[in-house]
Amino acid sequence: MSPSSESPGRAQAGLRPDVLVFATRATACEFVARRIREIVLRAARSRSRAVLGLATGRSPLHVYRRLCDFHREGLSFACVETFNLDEYWPIDPRHPASFHRYMREHLFDPIGIPRERAHMPDGAVPEEEIEAHCLEYERAIERSGGIDLQLLGIGANGHIGFNEPGSAPDSRTRKVLLHPGTLRDNQAAFGGTDRMPRAAITMGIGTILEARRIVVLALGEAKAQAVRAAVEGPVTPDVPASWLRRHPGVVWVLDRAAAGGLSRAG
Ligand code: F6R
Repeated sequence: MSPSSESPGRAQAGLRPDVLVFATRATACEFVARRIREIVLRAARSRSRAVLGLATGRSPLHVYRRLCDFHREGLSFACVETFNLDEYWPIDPRHPASFHRYMREHLFDPIGIPRERAHMPDGAVPEEEIEAHCLEYERAIERSGGIDLQLLGIGANGHIGFNEPGSAPDSRTRKVLLHPGTLRDNQAAFGGTDRMPRAAITMGIGTILEARRIVVLALGEAKAQAVRAAVEGPVTPDVPASWLRRHPGVVWVLDRAAAGGLSRAG
């Protein structure tokens, strides 16, 4: 590994301390993977549990790759319990585009997290059971002692989880309808929007804001506008990620392209 990726550093001066800008996607992801490793190591040392909130999508893929590397190099995830943000509804967990499949393949199987410790909203739950399922998901988070670190991506429309524009700051885990922009952005995995579920089950904004710490990972130019709106624009339901400004422990981890819309003065 090159020295620069050994110690990923801030690439731009003048931004706020909660906004870290890295030269490349890889260094941004390395930073996040190491934050997670620190939390896991600390929990293991104190014989407690590390509760991680996890996202799917393109952004965290390299983070998960690095966590798998750390595991191969000896890092144990035996003390880790996880809660994923969301899942499409309805969807079979074996569907190649389901978030269940994604998490099993990219993280849970390689690092050896069994199903009992890897919680995810169930995209196969019957409609009449969704409400009870969502309540139980919230209770499971509570029983775990709460999320130590929540990893988020951001949609080009400013969504976090599948909390689409219009989402309230006190929203909880629930069924939501996907925004047309989200259908468009995520259709490739399904081979077209007409083959996609129109709904999802997502943690709410209120659920997310209860995590002790939050890391938002945004990579690429396509996220620059949403990042700017969330970090510098008004706090509004039109940009669900702007609600994160109500949380004292949020860090934005960006590559240069995603930071491209931010004012340097911070
Ligand atoms: C995924 C999720 C979404 C994504 C967001 C960005 O579990 O909750 O909010 O984080 O849509 O997706 P990518 O990373 O694919 O650009």
